Amino acid sequence: MTLLTRNDYVVRAIRPDEWERVKQLRLDALRDPVAHLAFLEVYEEAAARPDVFWQDRAVGSGEGSTTALQFVAEAPDGTWAGSVTVLMEEAGTEDWAGSPVERRQGHVVGVFVRPEHRGNGLIEALFEAGVAWAWERAAERVRLFVHKDNARARAAYRKVGFEPSGVVVTFSKSEAETELELVLERPA
Ligand SMILES: CC(C)(COP(=O)(O)OP(=O)(O)OC[C@H]1O[C@@H](n2cnc3c(N)ncnc32)[C@H](O)[C@@H]1OP(=O)(O)O)[C@@H](O)C(=O)NCCC(=O)NCCS
Repeated sequence: MTLLTRNDYVVRAIRPDEWERVKQLRLDALRDPVAHLAFLEVYEEAAARPDVFWQDRAVGSGEGSTTALQFVAEAPDGTWAGSVTVLMEEAGTEDWAGSPVERRQGHVVGVFVRPEHRGNGLIEALFEAGVAWAWERAAERVRLFVHKDNARARAAYRKVGFEPSGVVVTFSKSEAETELELVLERPA
């Protein structure tokens, strides 16, 4: 399923059998110089996961899934240049951090654009696809978390319309771990 094209990139949902590429992209993202700000997982943890973990992830967030969908921007040479994943969260449940989910919402995670493809509009195209899917799934809003010191990501999210909700989460006792919740409300 091709969703849209932008500057010769194709943005599409992954297929359930593409687990090896899902794994490779994730491992590359975890080696990014800002990975310590961008992701809660560390490279060694991900690299040690068995194949079945990645196979399950690709099925769980591949075409046909109604609970999560991973979108990739594919360059003309076939490289996966960037990715976003949208998780659907149901009102009345608890999120991964144990906080109550009050509204049906999309939660964007795993945002990454390879350094050589940054600054060329891919992030907008990926969010366009991910957010459209969340609206299709009847989300009332879409949210994400960003580290307070991840200035480039914060600027990118502002560009695609996300605004601070006021919710701030600290994943450890250290002030340095502060993450801000940003939200995009469903258009009326
Ligand atoms: C976050 C990310 C996906 C954004 O994609 P991108 O292609 O770099 O985004 P863009 O360049 O289109 O937009 C970033 C904006 O921040 C600006 N910017 C760049 N460096 C910046 C900095 N240090 N401080 C503030 N703004 C910065 C850019 O100029 C751009 O704004 P502009 O389009 O108005 O010029 C990408 O940088 C990335 O993968 N980073 C590493 C992983 C990561 O941090 N993921 C997010 C986890 S929450």
